[in-house]
Amino acid sequence: MSALPAGLGKTWVPAALSAQLKRRPLARIVGGVPIVLFRDGAGRASALEDRCPHRNYPLSDGRVRDGALQCPYHGWRFDGSGACMEIPGCAPGATLARLGANPVAIVERHGAIFVRLEDGEGAAPFEAPPLIGDPDHHHFWWTQEPWQGRAIDALENILDPFHTNFIHDGLIRVSRKRQAVRQTLVTRERDFEVVYEQDAPDQGWMSRLLEGPRNRSVGRYLAPVVFQGRWESRRGLTLCATTFFVPESEHRYRPFGCWTTPKRLAPAWLKQALIMSFVGPVAAQDRRALALQNQTIGAFGGPRFKAGPTDRVAAPLARLYAGGALEPATDGPHEIWL
Ligand code: FES
Ligand SMILES: [Fe+2]
Repeated sequence: MSALPAGLGKTWVPAALSAQLKRRPLARIVGGVPIVLFRDGAGRASALEDRCPHRNYPLSDGRVRDGALQCPYHGWRFDGSGACMEIPGCAPGATLARLGANPVAIVERHGAIFVRLEDGEGAAPFEAPPLIGDPDHHHFWWTQEPWQGRAIDALENILDPFHTNFIHDGLIRVSRKRQAVRQTLVTRERDFEVVYEQDAPDQGWMSRLLEGPRNRSVGRYLAPVVFQGRWESRRGLTLCATTFFVPESEHRYRPFGCWTTPKRLAPAWLKQALIMSFVGPVAAQDRRALALQNQTIGAFGGPRFKAGPTDRVAAPLARLYAGGALEPATDGPHEIWL
């Protein structure tokens, strides 16, 4: 089985944050395909396969001149649609029409640049996950250079809370002070969510500082590459974290996170500073753990997982990730200790 999720090519995924794409083109790899992002003369984000159609030089090594991306090898220039605009050194009047680069579908929305590799049947129109870009909320994006591992293991990590008492001991939860939590798995045909109900907030200092009183949190998987977590108090949503794990290859993915909070809660700068001060250490802990896991999987020639009694997320995740469907059902509440 490929470690790439089914349907990735027909899905809109972030390739960069808007703020990352300035004057220089950016090289990205999505699902094994190198692409180049650049801004055309009007500042519009554009994406092409990162391969000059002339002698297959990487276009991302080039520069934008007069609104078109110039290949640095022989100087051919391509506009945002991939059309060839110039071939230096040829006599005027030459036909350039069939010499274009391959364009990649792109939209820039809500502070990020999304691409979709494939057109045609089953290719989805752009739609952001729920709440992203909602004007009643503040949104803070975060990203890093690619992490080592399989995207499915990163999704399981973020969907499954049992690692938090260990990998994030003291930060999110505390290994020696567990509390009873009611866990319910709600499956629908094309997604599932795991609902956690508890009588007191988590014991880690990140949870205590950021959340206030909480009685419910929900982790949702939106296939193929999105996790969305919502934390709720009695007054409603306090925090939402949307994470995209965009596979570069079977063993690398680029993480993007968008943190969303209602505008009423506190000034944006304060919330951003607080959230980011925790995202750094938590991400570093997960990044290290996932890389170590992946090295071990590789050393033994592939994953061989045993499912324990608390592993309720793995099976529905694997099924949706591979392009399958789920039976609509509610499983739980189960008593667990976190
Ligand atoms: S390889 Fe790009 S212009 Fe020749
Ligand atoms: Fe984690």
